[in-house]
Amino acid sequence: MSLEVQNLRKVYQKRFTTRPPLTAVDDISFHIKPGEIYSLLGPNGAGKSTTIKMIAGLVLPTSGEIRIAGKKGSAPSYQKLSAILEGTRNVYWRLTPLENLHYFANLRGVPSSIVKEKAPRLLEDLNIDAKKKNQSQHLSRGMLQKLALAAALITDPEVLLLDEPTLGLDVESGRRIKDMILRLAREEGRTILLTTHQMDLVEEIADRVGIINHGKLIQEGTLPELRAIFKSHIYRLRIKGSLSWDQTWKDRGLQLLQTQGDVHLYELDLKNGQGVSELLGYLSARQKQDPELEILSCHRVTDELEEIFLRVLKPEKN
Ligand SMILES: Nc1ncnc2c1ncn2[C@@H]1O[C@H](COP(=O)(O)OP(=O)(O)OP(=O)(O)O)[C@@H](O)[C@H]1O
Ligand SMILES: [Mg+2]
Repeated sequence: MSLEVQNLRKVYQKRFTTRPPLTAVDDISFHIKPGEIYSLLGPNGAGKSTTIKMIAGLVLPTSGEIRIAGKKGSAPSYQKLSAILEGTRNVYWRLTPLENLHYFANLRGVPSSIVKEKAPRLLEDLNIDAKKKNQSQHLSRGMLQKLALAAALITDPEVLLLDEPTLGLDVESGRRIKDMILRLAREEGRTILLTTHQMDLVEEIADRVGIINHGKLIQEGTLPELRAIFKSHIYRLRIKGSLSWDQTWKDRGLQLLQTQGDVHLYELDLKNGQGVSELLGYLSARQKQDPELEILSCHRVTDELEEIFLRVLKPEKN
């Protein structure tokens, strides 16, 4: 099922103050196809969670439309949608993990027989400690987060809204959730809207990214499309050992950004591809003179999503 959002707006009226109303989401539109993973990126307070809550039907939009499988949000389409919300209690603490799955499934009309069949595999896939009688309140934060995903998946949703699903997870749990999200989209064709502050997760799984700031969608595209916006040749270079640079490089704007022990991080605008090979030639000549010198990494800065993100947010710095 596709998910489409058109000219969505949310204005929070501040009661009992004379302060102006706050526009948390300002005319946002996007469209996610079945099987697609769309990631909303934005700084704190940008309006990501508000967008997710409006789609989930938990916050009433001030204006705009939400369409699931082409239809305006309505009861039958909400049956096919599940959400994990940020930092809230997504599960009941007094119930055991298994009871939680039964509870959420029954609430959405999924028969117990199906839950009985699906729940053990889901708990196992996510590696959740489902010791039979333990209340969920005794689970660790990461376990609760994984249980929230299990509770969202037990109803077999076509559309999944995931607000910071890997927040606070250890490396191995984060991987499991990442793999599960990928499988849900790629193999099962589910539609996924994801928010996170983890750029590496977005780089690994998102098909498209929307960057939002002050409630507005300011940039959208696939990762290659976003990379292509910044065609600069700014490179960063990590070098172990002491390298003496010729004056010409300094004249060309070479900057030492950071030093950690004997590892130095340099940045340089090489202007074009030829500049890149000049630099590599220079480095290899230096290395012949000093075999101790080690090039740890050399990469184009704007290939990284984090840099693209920061540059999109601060366009004046380009
Ligand atoms: N119930 C509310 N009443 C009034 N203002 C709210 C309410 N919920 C959110 N806001 C405001 O709306 C704006 C957007 O908040 P939102 O939670 O959507 O941001 P976010 O992008 O999810 O941020 P974060 O990355 O910190 O999770 C913020 O300025 C926030 O203070
Ligand atoms: Mg949020």
